Amino acid sequence: MVAFAAIFIRILTHTNVATIPSASFITYPNLNYIGLKYNKINKIEPGAFKGLSKLTTIDFTGNKLQVIENNLYANSTNLRKLKFDKNSITSVKNQAFNGLHKLSMLSFSNNQLREIPTIALHPLSQLNTLILDNNQLSRIDDESFKLPNLQELRLFHNSVMNISDSAFKWNSNLKYLYLSKNEITSLSAELFQNLNNLLALDISNNHIAKISNNIFAPMRNLRRLNLSYTKLTSITKTSFGSMPNLIQLILTNNEISRIEDAAFTKMKSLTEIYLQGNRLTTVNSKVFISLSTLQKLDISNNCLYDIKNSAFKKLNNLHSLNMLRTNVTCVHKDAFVKMPNLKTLISHSAAVCCNLPTQKSCKAYSGSCEKVNQKCHNNMPKPALCHGRPLKSFSNVRSTSAPMVYTTTNKIQTIIKIEQTSGAWSIFARSQVDLIILSVLSSYFLHMV
Ligand SMILES: *[C@@H]1O[C@H](CO)[C@@H](O)[C@H](O)[C@H]1NC(C)=O
Ligand SMILES: *[C@@H]1O[C@H](CO)[C@@H](O)[C@H](O)[C@H]1NC(C)=O
Ligand SMILES: *[C@@H]1O[C@H](CO)[C@@H](O)[C@H](O)[C@H]1NC(C)=O
Ligand SMILES: *[C@@H]1O[C@H](CO)[C@@H](O)[C@H](O)[C@H]1NC(C)=O
Repeated sequence: MVAFAAIFIRILTHTNVATIPSASFITYPNLNYIGLKYNKINKIEPGAFKGLSKLTTIDFTGNKLQVIENNLYANSTNLRKLKFDKNSITSVKNQAFNGLHKLSMLSFSNNQLREIPTIALHPLSQLNTLILDNNQLSRIDDESFKLPNLQELRLFHNSVMNISDSAFKWNSNLKYLYLSKNEITSLSAELFQNLNNLLALDISNNHIAKISNNIFAPMRNLRRLNLSYTKLTSITKTSFGSMPNLIQLILTNNEISRIEDAAFTKMKSLTEIYLQGNRLTTVNSKVFISLSTLQKLDISNNCLYDIKNSAFKKLNNLHSLNMLRTNVTCVHKDAFVKMPNLKTLISHSAAVCCNLPTQKSCKAYSGSCEKVNQKCHNNMPKPALCHGRPLKSFSNVRSTSAPMVYTTTNKIQTIIKIEQTSGAWSIFARSQVDLIILSVLSSYFLHMV
């Protein structure tokens, strides 16, 4: 007898082979892998995988299955991976996974599941990864995922609206939880209580608007948190609390207009904050205070008109600050001091002024981005004289739509990207400037250099 270890079946064109008959593989008892990807299978007869006690993987990706029937795999107790991605599955029977005590990966992405019976998952005591992306699941109940060894749960793009308070109480080993693109409107304060091993949480693209105080605090190991597109309107001191291991915080494309002082200060490992695409009008002095580990800060695409004095003070490790498409035309005199490691500052339209004559001239702003204080703008010093350090010797400046990089002859370290340049501009002469990336240069700017 030929002892195949793996079998790949792909019925390529216009066949109507849609059924896997009973005992199909009975002559290959040593099979450990069956790949049936991209066929037209819509029916699996009882006993189809009979006699395959060494089987570890079956891949049904891209077929026409609609139902996962009971007991089909019951005697293949060594199965580790079962993949049903890209079928038309609408239901899973209660005893579908009986006997699969060693299964570690079960994948159902791109199907039409509205629910999975809780009882169907119960035999899967070793399940490590469950992938349910792109289905129509609408709720997560207390026992939906009673899977103590689960480490990765993916529910991207479903219709989840209701999540029980104790939905994840079984999942203390979970490391990755993806709930992006659902219909979640609120998160209960207890929801994440048991997830103390979670490393990454993505709840972006939902309708949350408000986060309960310290809701994320139990996840003491969390490294990455994505709250992009969740309709958040403000960040308070207690929104995050202490998240000692958080490295990356993504708050982009919300409606955040207010961040309380010290909102981030207990996060002792934070290296990246993304706040682009919000409604911030000002950056207060104490918002980013004590974030000595922060390396990357993006506040681009906000309605910013005011950066308070010392707003970025003591950001000793900040490498990169993005202020593109903000309407900042004035910056308080000391806003950028004490940033010894700043390498990249990105600003739009050369509007950021390094040398405000007096703080007073920034006061006249109203909350609206439209009312940019022209007086301040006009008062900006001529660039070449900014802090008395002439910025000269840009060679070969040409107008171009693609960013270009120029090196100055000064011994400078900062990169400044100035896009759509027009009007007066200036450079942070106190921090030292090394590279300037210019794109879409106006004739005005060209003229000056
Ligand atoms: C599993 O094995 C038992 C005992 O060998 C047998 O009675 C049963 O029919 C098998 N079930 C399937 C689904 O192959
Ligand atoms: C699910 O959530 C919706 C909207 O928040 C709510 O109206 C509904 O009562 C909830 N259903 C259940 C069963 O909790
Ligand atoms: C965060 O979520 C947004 C929106 O769903 C997504 O586009 C982005 O790729 C996510 N970022 C990361 C780092 O996962
Ligand atoms: C900046 O101001 C201009 C006009 O003053 C306005 O058209 C634009 O939308 C503003 N941009 C932002 C990001 O608020």
